[in-house]
Amino acid sequence: MAEFKEISPNASAGAKLNNWLNNRFPTAFDAYRVHMSEYYAPKNFNFWYFFGSLALLVLVIQIVTGIFLVMHYKPDAALAFSSVEYIMRDVPWGWLIRYMHSTGASAFFVVVYLHMFKSLIYGSYRKPRELVWIFGCTIFLMLMAEAFFGYLLPWGQMSYWGAQVIVNLFAAIPFVGPDLALLIRGDYVVSDATLNRFFSFHVIAIPLVLLGLVAAHLLSLHDVGSNNPDGVDIKGPNAPRDANGHPVDGIPFHPYYSVHDMVGVGVFLMAFSAIIFFAPELGGYFLEYNNFIPADQFKTPPHIAPVWYFTPFYSMLRATTDVMVDVLCVLTALAAIAAVVKGRLPTIGKGVVIAAAIIGILMLKTFDAKFWGVVLMGGAVIILFFLPWLDASPVRSIRYRPGWHKVLYGIFVVFFLVLGYLGIQPPSDVGTVIAQIGTVYYFGFFLLMPLWSRLGRFKPVPERITFAAH
Ligand code: HEM
Repeated sequence: MAEFKEISPNASAGAKLNNWLNNRFPTAFDAYRVHMSEYYAPKNFNFWYFFGSLALLVLVIQIVTGIFLVMHYKPDAALAFSSVEYIMRDVPWGWLIRYMHSTGASAFFVVVYLHMFKSLIYGSYRKPRELVWIFGCTIFLMLMAEAFFGYLLPWGQMSYWGAQVIVNLFAAIPFVGPDLALLIRGDYVVSDATLNRFFSFHVIAIPLVLLGLVAAHLLSLHDVGSNNPDGVDIKGPNAPRDANGHPVDGIPFHPYYSVHDMVGVGVFLMAFSAIIFFAPELGGYFLEYNNFIPADQFKTPPHIAPVWYFTPFYSMLRATTDVMVDVLCVLTALAAIAAVVKGRLPTIGKGVVIAAAIIGILMLKTFDAKFWGVVLMGGAVIILFFLPWLDASPVRSIRYRPGWHKVLYGIFVVFFLVLGYLGIQPPSDVGTVIAQIGTVYYFGFFLLMPLWSRLGRFKPVPERITFAAH
């Protein structure tokens, strides 16, 4: 046990209380110092760095509003829909709590997509932050699961049929699929059993995992230190430090960034409140109109679409037609030919590439397009985990990359948004072709990154951060 520190009897009451606590719970004081007052963050953070703290804020909003919703919500297929209506009409301030939670779900994805994009453009996923990124990608997967389970709870038409469609996707997995779908539903159709288990996952299992992951995300970030828009290491072995050993390009997180982040919080809360008070359904994008109709297992809605944050990936699923599978076969063959002709491989290596391509094409033709759609949809998220090892560029930040890299990133964003838009629309011939091109671009962007990311003329990266306080 550490020795008790004495304090002068003439000290103020506040100082005495502080000393009393410090003697009994020094770990809390150490944590405050390590993670707040003596955590040196680069001095050049810009608005992109608001989204991490905003994600934390939304996490808290979701948990607090969730706790109050559970007080009146009934996880029972016969009562769920009307319990939500009861919350909206009869529970004092229930409408506000419910709209905060439903808007919070969309806000979470807005904030997290922007947060991920920041990491993408500034190379924040690269050494030594690979684990920070991997924890982040796992958070993203868990967030998708959390949103999916939560969406069934109001037991509206979209809740019901959306869950039906997504659970049926698992049934497309060869051999184990049908049993897996049965296990997830707990029944042969989406039913009361499904609602109960989704409720349990939504309110306790996944939030616990999410909280653990967020803690791991932040602790691992603080172990290696934050990146910044220049991608320069402020705590590296050669980085300049002051007489106390603190990086000269860093400033303590508290009070500088705790106050700075308040600007982001203010702007966010204005937008968040504007939506809650003036457009809580946001034209059907945040709360779909069909979900105001109670679930009816005998009546399938004509057009089932997931909420906007899933639609880029849903588009990839729908784009995977038989023709798309043929295109994938051709691309696999072309990639193998390029590797054999250009790859400077030994003869055995060439043999392995050709054998792998033949097996790949045979598998593509053996299983049906729906299965490959599920693979592409899942693969689009899984591929993000590998980003730290796909990017071979000599610099981290987009600021010092060749101009045409920026164009590739720009096209990536446009395709991601277009895929998202198409996923909301009913399927069409033109839409399918565009979604197919977008899907090929999405995967090409990542899979060919080891090749293209090292090409072009890079600008010299400065030794120190380039930032002039205004
Ligand atoms: C609940 C969701 C999340 C929370 C609460 C959260 C929180 C944070 C916070 C507070 C920071 C430090 C401030 C900042 O850089 O903005 C941070 C940094 C970071 N996050 Fe997240 N995050 C979440 C999800 C994600 C996801 C989904 C990814 C990526 C897939 C991710 C990747 C990163 C990376 C790479 C950094 C380091 C950024 C840098 O130093 O430049 N995070 N996160």
